[in-house]
Amino acid sequence: MSALLEVDQLAVQLPIGQRLRPVLHDVSFTLARGEVLAVVGESGSGKSMTARAIVRLLPPGAASSGRVTFDGTDVGSATRAQLRELRARRVGMIFQDPRAAINPIHRIGDFLTEALVRDRRMRKAEAHERAVAVLGEVGIDDPGRRLRQHPHELSGGMLQRVMIASVLLAEPDLILADEPTTALDVTTQAEVVAVLGDLRRERAMAMVFITHDLELAAAISDRVAVMYAGYLVETLPAAQALERPIHPYTEALLRSRPELSRRMAAIPQIPGRPLAAHEATGGCPFQPRCSYAIERCAAERPEPVRLGGESVMCHRAQERRAAGSAPVGEGTLVR
Ligand SMILES: Nc1ncnc2c1ncn2[C@@H]1O[C@H](COP(=O)(O)OP(=O)(O)OP(=O)(O)O)[C@@H](O)[C@H]1O
Ligand SMILES: [Mg+2]
Repeated sequence: MSALLEVDQLAVQLPIGQRLRPVLHDVSFTLARGEVLAVVGESGSGKSMTARAIVRLLPPGAASSGRVTFDGTDVGSATRAQLRELRARRVGMIFQDPRAAINPIHRIGDFLTEALVRDRRMRKAEAHERAVAVLGEVGIDDPGRRLRQHPHELSGGMLQRVMIASVLLAEPDLILADEPTTALDVTTQAEVVAVLGDLRRERAMAMVFITHDLELAAAISDRVAVMYAGYLVETLPAAQALERPIHPYTEALLRSRPELSRRMAAIPQIPGRPLAAHEATGGCPFQPRCSYAIERCAAERPEPVRLGGESVMCHRAQERRAAGSAPVGEGTLVR
């Protein structure tokens, strides 16, 4: 069966200062129906831009190349009406801050049922019933009462569940979740992640889940895509992400996760600072910070290499795989 989503050599440039500068470079990946891909990487690495490019919600003045195919349709040449339909029905979006996405003066019930009544010509009573059911599904007690409330009467975690419920009502084939739990406290984060996990199992919806947190990424997904400076540097099966990543950047991310650092004498920060996509020069974008870099890495940008279930953009990928890459254990990086 063909993939639900195919992203092929996607590149995006944005007007920054007086010039168009690259923010995404040749990003390629596919997503099968029902599959969950987590996208991780530091701030500014291009995670949100990748999600926005999928539904062509790029900032004004953006230029792009490459191809995004959703369920056989080339999104790049879709008409406005097709894009509207795509965003309303086929691809649901959940963002970091639900308060920014929900009109504060409308009741939760209106927010949830509006599209069903307007676009799907559903009777109000039926739409209401559907909303009650779906709120129950995302773990909201007393949904009837919640539907009569306004957004300010709900906590951030509750509101994010409402957001998820609104996406579910549209029954999309793909959910783009851009750091949906970042604005929430740790306990609520875990609850919202559990809700998404349940839905994934029960409804088999495909999802692109964006997060800074490699551990969360591995827990929620089938595959993890790691971005750095606008490049997709490694795509690997989730189970492998916390065990044996091949790309040195993924390995560095793994070593610097707070969970591990807390138990170590020194916090192993990745040396140097993240590079903006437009700062990347001829070589590997991670080379200036990479402790495995060799001469070739500064001179020549690596092409992604396919290794089994992985795709790795590193000159030393084969070698690192053969060596089993460095095991990441307690104390390995204390210096
Ligand atoms: N509207 C915009 N105009 C100009 N540059 C932008 C715009 N939006 C994003 N960028 C730039 O594009 C690059 C990628 O941004 P993107 O938002 O995709 O990063 P991200 O990985 O989602 O980061 P974060 O984790 O902080 O959300 C960054 O360098 C950012 O500064
Ligand atoms: Mg972002």
